[in-house]
Amino acid sequence: MEAKKWGFAITLIFIFAVVPLTLLILQNPNKPWEFVDKILGILGGDDSMYPSGNYKVNGDHIQDLSVSPNLSSCHASYGRTDLLVHCCPSESQGEEAIIDFQFPDPSTPLRVRMPAHHVDDDNIAKYKRALTIMKSLPDSDPRSFSRQANIHCLYCTGAYDQPHSNLSIDIHRKWFFFPWHRMVLHFHERIVGRLIGDDAFALPFWNWDSPDAMTLPGWYMNDPFFDDQRDFSHFPPKTMILNLAYMYKQVVSGAKTPELFMGCPYKAGEGGVCDGPGTVELALHNTMHKWVGSNFQPEREDMGAFY
Ligand SMILES: *[C@@H]1O[C@H](CO)[C@@H](O)[C@H](O)[C@H]1NC(C)=O
Ligand SMILES: *[C@@H]1O[C@H](CO)[C@@H](O)[C@H](O)[C@H]1NC(C)=O
Repeated sequence: MEAKKWGFAITLIFIFAVVPLTLLILQNPNKPWEFVDKILGILGGDDSMYPSGNYKVNGDHIQDLSVSPNLSSCHASYGRTDLLVHCCPSESQGEEAIIDFQFPDPSTPLRVRMPAHHVDDDNIAKYKRALTIMKSLPDSDPRSFSRQANIHCLYCTGAYDQPHSNLSIDIHRKWFFFPWHRMVLHFHERIVGRLIGDDAFALPFWNWDSPDAMTLPGWYMNDPFFDDQRDFSHFPPKTMILNLAYMYKQVVSGAKTPELFMGCPYKAGEGGVCDGPGTVELALHNTMHKWVGSNFQPEREDMGAFY
């Protein structure tokens, strides 16, 4: 399970870091905020902007179509049809209220994410300290490494049902993919920073479409970053190839509209299910998952299939 945890940190970091910036700059050079607005609309952050998007009027009744989990409904789910995956927290979450997101106070320090191959020793030391603390926390602590890692599993293979429904939640292959992963990173990063009392701590990212950074970042070969459930043949100095071509196709030429980039609209209830991943999910996310994952397991688990 240790390996899975490691997968959490590294995958999400590269997914988050490379794409949005490139997209904002290349795809929408004059109007990047339009895209940000779309994402906020999709997240349900500003109802006035997209009045019809997440709501349906049934007579006088307005139905909220935002997808949400029933936190009391956690159950084992299927990683593959023949594989039940267990990642529910040991204690019930049912009584925990869901807290609305608050944007950070603008006066708080800006977190500046650095590419992993340029992070200095001080920052590696901070990250190391934070991860060591995180890994030492008991499983009952939601900030612990295993609980953080399991968040992906909980929402990936259908561990939660939607309220008033037997339909489970799956954050892949739809427009949830991108904002959901960004959200997880956002909170993970805040937790990491809080554990070492550094409100400006920023997660490094693997800048794998840069010619200088096409190997696994070297310091990931050491504890507490190292994971022995990886494809050893892909350890440094092995380089990823075709990255630039992938990046251009998935972020620029193949992603001309928000829908192509983000994936299909996903809404609550029977009518809201969809299966149509965006370009950000397909080649970029899936290829890297598999490249890093363990070649000893059928689905290259522990990064390939990342429950
Ligand atoms: C949530 O799930 C629990 C357990 O399955 C169930 O008893 C409860 O009715 C569900 N709540 C809603 C709002 O669907
Ligand atoms: C969920 O499934 C059970 C068993 O098939 C059924 O009795 C129940 O009505 C379903 N609940 C909803 C909200 O569809």
